[in-house]
Amino acid sequence: MRVVFERDVPCTLRDGIILRANVYRPDEGGPYPVILTRLPYGKDGSAYSVLDPIRLAEAGYIVVIQDVRGCFASDGEFQGFPQEFNDGYDAVEWAAHLPNANDTVGMYGVSYYGYTQWAAAAMKPPSLRVVAPTIALDDGWLGATFRHGAIEWGMTASWFSGMAVANLFKVKEQFEDFPARFGRLVYDNDRLSHEGYFDLPLDQFGALRRAGVLPDFFEQITRTRYDDTWRAMSIKPHYDQMDVAAFLTGGWYDVFLQSTLDAYLALQQNGKEARLLIGPWSHINFTGAVGDVEFGAAADIGFLNFEMDRTMLHRRFFDHTLKQPDPGLEQEPPVRLFVMGSNTWRYASAWPLPETTYTPYYLHSESTLSTTTPTLEPADHYTYDPLNPVITTGGNLLMTPSYRPGPLDQATVEARDDVLVYTSAPLEEALTVIGPVKARLFVSTTAQDTDFVVRLTDVDPSGRSLNLADGIVRMRYRDSLEHPSLLEPNHIYAIEVDLWATANVFLPGHCIRVQITSSNFPRWSRNLNTGESNESTAETIVATQTILHDEKHPSHLLLPVIPLA
Ligand code: BEZ
Repeated sequence: MRVVFERDVPCTLRDGIILRANVYRPDEGGPYPVILTRLPYGKDGSAYSVLDPIRLAEAGYIVVIQDVRGCFASDGEFQGFPQEFNDGYDAVEWAAHLPNANDTVGMYGVSYYGYTQWAAAAMKPPSLRVVAPTIALDDGWLGATFRHGAIEWGMTASWFSGMAVANLFKVKEQFEDFPARFGRLVYDNDRLSHEGYFDLPLDQFGALRRAGVLPDFFEQITRTRYDDTWRAMSIKPHYDQMDVAAFLTGGWYDVFLQSTLDAYLALQQNGKEARLLIGPWSHINFTGAVGDVEFGAAADIGFLNFEMDRTMLHRRFFDHTLKQPDPGLEQEPPVRLFVMGSNTWRYASAWPLPETTYTPYYLHSESTLSTTTPTLEPADHYTYDPLNPVITTGGNLLMTPSYRPGPLDQATVEARDDVLVYTSAPLEEALTVIGPVKARLFVSTTAQDTDFVVRLTDVDPSGRSLNLADGIVRMRYRDSLEHPSLLEPNHIYAIEVDLWATANVFLPGHCIRVQITSSNFPRWSRNLNTGESNESTAETIVATQTILHDEKHPSHLLLPVIPLA
């Protein structure tokens, strides 16, 4: 079928602002369902279209790729996430009534333009039938800008700096010194990895102050409580009202993994038609090679890979929900997960898997880890100096290129004095772990506020330790994200660290390892240990940290073990 292309098709919003879209439509037949995506990164950049619009148009869809308010070809001022609720509703209803459209709409897109789908769905536009958010965030605070109280500094600083480049370019007429400002911003972006991330205090973050755009950035990083402003941009309260089918894609090493899992869980609990696909991917890397590991061609949905490329996977779901129910798809279990280690796909009827047995692995003296509860054992100690933080080495990252996401060799991290490791004996049999991972620790510190960071790794028989999942607790938020409270120095606190989730087979001969430390910087902002605002001061204090593991304080990791089939 021939496909017709139209550029800059205008859509007038309720407040008169005009957004522009590129439209790919079949040249004959119809009427057709519409597939819409709404993004802030430029509709004309082919990398950002994510799916192949020509193949989708050939398959009988009108594909609409729209710049959101204030970005690229669209008018208005970019105000970030909250703008996408009403704009999303208006854009869906406009698209549903394009010439030769059949009044039904599906949406797709990654990351920010996963969020634009959720925001539209939250407003319940009558023509929206299906969304397909990929590696999307669904909340500004919980697991996006912040992780249990600590700023996702690596992601936030680099994303805002990148957005500032496009934003500054768009309003260049407002600045007489635009060339100098623009050059400086590009320079500041390049300098992030080496120096920019390390600037203190954070709220003086030079790159954006100098550029003079996106003032919200400073407001966001200093709004360090889960308050009503954060809640207003959250999708979480809307899942139970949504009236759409959903196809969710996420990555075990994606910075927004938990948003994807939370969204699926909420839709599953509310009985919505939802499907979940999680690969070993990081943010935007859908190939089979992530970090130091090659997971193989089976994990690769980045390229045309028979039935597993992204356009095909989406088309199948859109055909099923916007055209005709597909009995084959109806028979497939809704959850499809890539299991690392065995490097195979596994289907499941629900998330987490119903057969999961949550198994405690206890910390012991002499750096060991086992399923035996501890008895009389001395505590372990280390010193955390915010001026000498543990440097980010892999994980669920979206940062400047020097900080590679995914599984990376942890040797340099584990060699440090301020990183405790606890390692199991080599496994005699394979151990499959799929699901949420948590650490329950008994800790104390000499500071009034500090952080505890926990990481799970898989150690192969050669001794190479590869990270699977990690998490942080900023201690002032240990009990409440809304009402932070300082610590009593040297008091023992029981804390739970959420490491999000993974799917991994620890093969025979491999060991399970837990790292415990107090920083993962610049991914997470450093706790300066003073008890003052960590955002607006540059003063630091060195803290002595204690991890207890005895009968009364059985610190452990809780692993979601899947029994052998
Ligand atoms: C993204 O679209 O990749 C993105 C969105 C929000 C924050 C960071 C990244």
